[in-house]
Amino acid sequence: MTEKTALVTGAARGIGLATTQLFLKEGRRVAMIDRDAEALHQSAEGLEGALPVACDVSDPDQVAAMTRQVAGEFGRIDALVNNAGVADFRPLEETDFATWRQVMATNLDGVFLMSQAAIPHLKTVRGAIVNVASISGLRASTLRVAYGTSKAAVIHLTRQQAAELGDHGVRANCVAPGPVDTKLALAVHTPQIRAAYHDAIPLNRYGQEAEIAEVIVFLCSDRASYVTGQTIASDGGFDATGVGLPALRALSPNRNG
Ligand SMILES: NC(=O)c1ccc[n+]([C@@H]2O[C@H](COP(=O)([O-])OP(=O)(O)OC[C@H]3O[C@@H](n4cnc5c(N)ncnc54)[C@H](O)[C@@H]3O)[C@@H](O)[C@H]2O)c1
Repeated sequence: MTEKTALVTGAARGIGLATTQLFLKEGRRVAMIDRDAEALHQSAEGLEGALPVACDVSDPDQVAAMTRQVAGEFGRIDALVNNAGVADFRPLEETDFATWRQVMATNLDGVFLMSQAAIPHLKTVRGAIVNVASISGLRASTLRVAYGTSKAAVIHLTRQQAAELGDHGVRANCVAPGPVDTKLALAVHTPQIRAAYHDAIPLNRYGQEAEIAEVIVFLCSDRASYVTGQTIASDGGFDATGVGLPALRALSPNRNG
């Protein structure tokens, strides 16, 4: 039997690296894609079954060349995980067009381009796409005009993909992580933001990279064979608690943190 494969973007670190490691553990070969070539090759060292390929997912020519290379070396692409993302938090009126474009280029254009390139390969094996959005795409907040809008668009793009690819047996789903301790979060979450997140999240903590990876790998697997077009928030309950005000939670007899 031919070994299954996965292609993971933003695989040099964080959620993408954790997802790569879990796929490898489950016996898939994994194409690790990242634009940070140095970090990518360092992370791939010693990972048996991993194929690191440097590529900027927002560049159509690089995406086309990389997909040809991966398909050539693996012979098949069973799963595509569009995980590469950038965050830039600033007020609406201070978000200049260059910043807006930079966020959209990776977070939205990248998902579109990668998917277009992989779809012919996914169709031949009835494969799966998982796009990584964010709770910022499910709920609005300050400072996230570009980031939150890009992630909301990814959630809808997922549904478009599910609608059109279902006939070919290709599933498309989305994972919306809550705050996770990665370099991306460290760069934009101040100590005050961290404390506020702890207050607003029923599980009272940030998520771990491996916890998000579990949901991604499940959605790519045959265990999710009748799930498509869905967005699963892996967020400690944040999205479920519209009126999760700290003052109300403090009254709960079961509060433990
Ligand atoms: N960490 C969080 O709190 C959090 C919360 C919600 C959603 N997310 C989403 O999860 C995904 C992964 O985030 P993370 O926290 O692991 O981030 P990270 O910054 O730790 O890793 C992201 C990786 O993507 C790569 N990358 C960025 N732009 C790229 C491009 N154009 N082409 C190729 N590679 C590129 C980076 O080099 C980096 O290695 C992102 O889409 C992010 O928006 C993260």
